[in-house]
Amino acid sequence: MFSNYINDIESLKKQNLYRKLVDSNSIASNIINREKHRYISFACNDYLGLSHNSALKKSAILAIKKYGVGARASRYITGNNILYKKLEKALAKFYKNDDALVFSSGYSCAIGVVKALVGEGDLIIADKLIHACLIDGAQLSQAKFIRFDHNNLEHCLKILQENRHQYKKCLILTETIFSMDGDVGKIAELLNLANKFDAILLSDDAHGLGQNIEPHSRHLQMGTLSKAFGSLGGFVVGDKILIEYLRQFSRSAIYSTALPPAILASSLQALKIISKKNLAQKSIEIAQYFCQLMNLLKPESSIVIIKIGESKKVVEIAQKVAKNGFLIGAIRPPTVPQNQARLRLTFSASHRKNDIKKLAKILREILK
Ligand SMILES: Cc1ncc(COP(=O)(O)O)c(C=O)c1O
Repeated sequence: MFSNYINDIESLKKQNLYRKLVDSNSIASNIINREKHRYISFACNDYLGLSHNSALKKSAILAIKKYGVGARASRYITGNNILYKKLEKALAKFYKNDDALVFSSGYSCAIGVVKALVGEGDLIIADKLIHACLIDGAQLSQAKFIRFDHNNLEHCLKILQENRHQYKKCLILTETIFSMDGDVGKIAELLNLANKFDAILLSDDAHGLGQNIEPHSRHLQMGTLSKAFGSLGGFVVGDKILIEYLRQFSRSAIYSTALPPAILASSLQALKIISKKNLAQKSIEIAQYFCQLMNLLKPESSIVIIKIGESKKVVEIAQKVAKNGFLIGAIRPPTVPQNQARLRLTFSASHRKNDIKKLAKILREILK
């Protein structure tokens, strides 16, 4: 029985692609306890160090005391706690846009938004490196799905010229900061193309914080509250008509229980902190400092990638680094293309320079 499934699992093991779940207790922003060992993590997406922020914790506890733990129903039934309205208003203001819609996660936001906006007879044109959640949304939508080479505007233009006229609606998908490469998407340029070809641009800002993005009616910006915001949830901001449309037609927002009030409260608190301090710039500067020490190119974001190639080697390097008390990401296919396994390091405003120096020394030694 189940031999097909067993074979698939064994095949993953043979290719060094088997994913292990390790008990990991986060005891401070970038400190993880695993069994008896303590690690400094350069593998979390807590870019601003807010996951353990005392103001966030306090607002979550207060919300639990006031409203209980679970939301008990979908937002559309009785789960629409007053904090949703506050959070959506604050997100729209932060992104200098009309309105926002909050989902239970970034993943749920991507599939809900893409499927609501396009369907059979419509066209999706997407950067080759978009995140799995947008790919799943595109597949779920049943729209024609064509990919352009990463950040290649000419290729995107060619696809639009050859295909746009055959389809009713058109959606262009990209990311503001690419999750597994750390480079920056061509938002302004793609928005120009969206304007020219009567399309909507949906960009994923999961690893950014709205830096250098000007609002535009054809631009929907999605993001997550689970990384820099240190909390949980996804969101999309944009033109009021489009957000109202998504409120009516995004199935993942409608047919799912609302977020717990404590999570909404901590996201709101995070947004207050982020709106006051420019923490995003600090995490990028820390990533740049690491790259200087490693003699790597200056990074465009808080994500630093060291391409290795072989999956086995990537895992071995990450294990050696872990033996020295540091966690770094070992990213393998299918998250990245075949033979492009890589180390992924994420930097946070809460990382200390001394730890970065130590990590760089260890990595330089291992990669020699
Ligand atoms: C680019 C990108 N988009 C979306 C998501 C999904 O967000 P969430 O973790 O909130 O579901 C992720 C998370 O891994 C991501 O990296």
